[in-house]
Formats: sequence, structure tokens, C-alpha cells
Amino acid sequence: MKLLFVGDVVGSPGRKMITEYLPKLKKKYKPAVTIVNGENAAGGRGITEKIYKGFLESGAQAITMGNHTWDNREIFEFIGNAPRLVRPANLPAGVPGVGCTYVKINTLEVAVINLIGRTFMQASDDPFQKAEELIEEARARTPFVFVDFHAEATSEKQAMGWTLDGRATAVVGTHTHVQTADERILPEGTAYLSDVGMTGPRDGILGMERESVLYKFKTGLPARFEVAQGREQLSAVLIDADDKTGRAVSIKRIQIDEDHPFFE
Ligand SMILES: [Fe+2]
Repeated sequence: MKLLFVGDVVGSPGRKMITEYLPKLKKKYKPAVTIVNGENAAGGRGITEKIYKGFLESGAQAITMGNHTWDNREIFEFIGNAPRLVRPANLPAGVPGVGCTYVKINTLEVAVINLIGRTFMQASDDPFQKAEELIEEARARTPFVFVDFHAEATSEKQAMGWTLDGRATAVVGTHTHVQTADERILPEGTAYLSDVGMTGPRDGILGMERESVLYKFKTGLPARFEVAQGREQLSAVLIDADDKTGRAVSIKRIQIDEDHPFFE
């Protein structure tokens, strides 16, 4: 059973890459389930209903989020009717949306969980405690559990990987927008990658237009960041799991850009 996960889609350049390459990636790798992180999809901040539906039409079955979940106010209007939209699970009770969704493929089910880190990030509930709760709940239903851990610190991400080793099919990090090269299968069968990377403008700074980011760094003054334009990239990861046990058997990073052209 293969899982394809595409990293943080940034603005219209990222969405363009999804429309163009998601169908091609699905044709080439034939994943049973495709997941996209969409927390930066609307102008770099948040997501709209139209974008959410567009990702599903392009072939994604679940959309994960992160610290920018609430930045586009439209989310409050549709999140109640968006069962495939997964916001961080470790938020206070009563916050709209779900932190875990189940994607059905024939007789199999894949649990998709989104968690958010606390190191160098805004306050949230304990992701480790929430992971313990959700993983047990999910494993009572299915051996296939995918976790998108949206976090800044590599140490916190590794800690989550080890926490869930043998209980999650995969723990993949998002948020830093830079793909790490530390993919591995942990000893008990969990595929791990610290960060899947970003899908969007290649020549910005983490996807945002360079000039205003540089201005902020050099002056310390507030600046409005816009999504960069120009050349694009797509970052993703493909995980193959044993059909019976849900244990990962392989993990492969994917990059599409000018230096890494896509071959059908
Ligand atoms: Fe983020």
C-alpha cells in the first residue's frame, strides 16, 4: 500500500504544480492514498474552500494543515463541511475541524493525523500526549496511520518519530519548507522524514518574495510578505507499506524542479 505526501503548497505557484504534477505522480507511482499539506495554499497563509476542493479534484484524499490553519478567515465557513481537511489535533477542545480523518480505499482504511510542534512555535496542547491518544484510537481501526508533524525543530520531529515507531506507518515533518535528506525506516517499521519540503516558488525565501523578507531581516521592521513568483518546485515523499501489517517497507523522497525534471 503506497502513500504519497506532497509538502507545503505555497500560493498560486504551488497550486499550479499540484494541478500539473499530482495526476502525473499518481499515474507513475500509483499511491492508494495521496495527502497534501495545504496550510500555505491561499496566498501563503491558510486555505479557501475552492482550493480545498481543487486539491481533492487533482487527486488528493486528505489535506493537512499547520500554524497557518486559521489565517484565511474563509476556513471558519467551510471547515465544518470539509471532512478531508485535517487541522492540528493538539488544539483546545471546541476548536472547529478534526485532527484525524480516515480515508477508505476498497477494504482498507488509512488514518491521517496532523499534529503541531511547540518548540519555537505558538503555544498549543502537548503533541506527544495527543499523539498517544490518537494513535491508539486509529490503530483500533486500522494498521495504516500517517502522521504529518508540522514543527520547526528537527529534534522535536525526531522525538515524534521515535515516539510513534512501530505504531505509525509514517511520521513526516512539514513547516520548514526545506526537504531534509534523512529519510529512513525506524527499527519497528515507521517511515520517517524530518521535513518533506515545499511546493511552490523556488527562488523566494521559503516561498515568499525575497525583497520584503530581506528588508525585515536587515531593518527589523515589520514587512508584508507576498508569495514569490517565477520558477517552481514540488517536494513530496512516497512511502510503501506492507498490506497486512501497515509497517513501512520503503520511503523515497521526490523533488521536481529545473534540476530534477519529472520523468513519466
Ligand atoms: Fe507552517
